[in-house]
Amino acid sequence: MSKPYSRKLDRNPTFSSANKLVASRRQFLRIGGSLLGMLALSGLPSNVFGASKRLSRVAAYPFTLGVASGDPTSDSVILWTRIDPAALIGLGVDNDAIDVDYEVATDSNFTTIIRTGNIVAPPQLGYSAHLELRGLSPQTVYFYRWRLGGEISPVGRTKTAPLASASVQSFRFAVASCQQYEQGFFTAYDHMSKEDLDLIVHLGDYIYESSWGDVLVRRHEGPEIVTLNDYRARYTTYKSDADLQSAHASAPWAITWDDHEVDNNYASDIAEDDQTPDQLLARRAAAYQAFYEFTPIRLPVGRQGPDMPIYRRLRIGNLLEMSVLDTRQYRSDQACGDGRKRSCSAHMDSSRTLLGDAQKKWLFDSLASTDAVWNVLAQQIMMASLTSKDEQGETLWPMDIWDGYPFERDELLNHIHDRKTPNPIVLTGDIHSNWVADLKLNFEDARSKIVGTEFVGTSITSGGDGSDMTTYGETLLANNPHVKHYNGQRGYMVATVNDKNWQNDFRIVDKVTVRGAPIRTQASFVVEAGEAGAKRM
Ligand SMILES: [Fe+2]
Repeated sequence: MSKPYSRKLDRNPTFSSANKLVASRRQFLRIGGSLLGMLALSGLPSNVFGASKRLSRVAAYPFTLGVASGDPTSDSVILWTRIDPAALIGLGVDNDAIDVDYEVATDSNFTTIIRTGNIVAPPQLGYSAHLELRGLSPQTVYFYRWRLGGEISPVGRTKTAPLASASVQSFRFAVASCQQYEQGFFTAYDHMSKEDLDLIVHLGDYIYESSWGDVLVRRHEGPEIVTLNDYRARYTTYKSDADLQSAHASAPWAITWDDHEVDNNYASDIAEDDQTPDQLLARRAAAYQAFYEFTPIRLPVGRQGPDMPIYRRLRIGNLLEMSVLDTRQYRSDQACGDGRKRSCSAHMDSSRTLLGDAQKKWLFDSLASTDAVWNVLAQQIMMASLTSKDEQGETLWPMDIWDGYPFERDELLNHIHDRKTPNPIVLTGDIHSNWVADLKLNFEDARSKIVGTEFVGTSITSGGDGSDMTTYGETLLANNPHVKHYNGQRGYMVATVNDKNWQNDFRIVDKVTVRGAPIRTQASFVVEAGEAGAKRM
């Protein structure tokens, strides 16, 4: 999301070192990437990395960033942790990978342990550990924990997906986005961790690369982040938050990124400001590596340098197919100078893309062939039109969101309509506010067919406390009759889905600038299967 002011890059004197870091990381990938892929795929033991150390003691508690799990299939899930480098000080570890043990049980007391083993946390990945645990039972809750040098991690709860062929009675998941650490406490995550969820979907802006906002309750260290070590430090700050750790420990996550995991409003290799494409790509490689290191995702196939294909699909029985998208890495540059602008020739260039060719084909193929009851696009930026008028009555288009890429949006919505994709639901983050919108073949025609429904979830903290209604909300509601709801407070969405209907609850906290605010449902909407468009409950 565009920040409320424009700025130039803080010229970070360490920027040239980013290229060195990328070079060494590339070397590592060339040497170790395929091995790492094997490790992630098979949970091979530690000797795959050659030198690895088994520690009998540690210098400090190693699991300070907690545990996490993610990307469940019907028989597997990724388990994650990361060893605090402070735990390794003075132990002669040098640059060795570290053996870390894991235990998996069917109960939270670990009386019935079903799996133990060890994997390595390599220094090339910042001592993160990603275990793909396979051979699990479908739709089953598991508990896991890690051990190192006599220390034991917090316990995580995870859950596998149902078999693709299974008839699923109900599935309940939360949707989060936009968690600027300085602008509020992650109270919403404390509440989310108690919701007994099957899944938590994160739509990006998990970290922010810079400081902004007027009311800051806690601070990032340093200037705008650029190098791999910068990004690692920023993730460490965010993930030290106990509420965020609780949410990670409570359920498996499916995470995608938006812009702030790299640079505000970047587009492919084009930065927000005056960084060159080479500089942005070096920065992107560092940022993408840190994203992998700190999130419970499978190592993306095809990862090389600054390229990291993270778009992927989750299948929840017969009920739901979720395509998790990336609308940053492959997009054409924002048209007309970005921001909310009148249309210009670049805006009307039909060759511009948000998804890129490969992701678009992958998505369109699935939308044409899916047999799931509900078909979800979990993505970053608002798809329904959200235009306004300037003082001369000319239409202003928000160029960073789907309004800025109208040809590809038309193509997508026409494809959904033509191929009769069952019950399309678009889930969105990015703009720090709650919205419900009808997705239409023509947003400027009140009689145009509704082909899908969009739920936009607000931020966890970004934007501060917020308020129910704002001038921005009033203006955009008035100008966009296909938009049914707005709220400008903080929180998350909870979707409760069965084969008859999709209920979306907007869960909000009234304050994020003080700790401990209660959670409440501000509004609920329902979509009935077979009938696009949401109704207020
Ligand atoms: Fe954001």
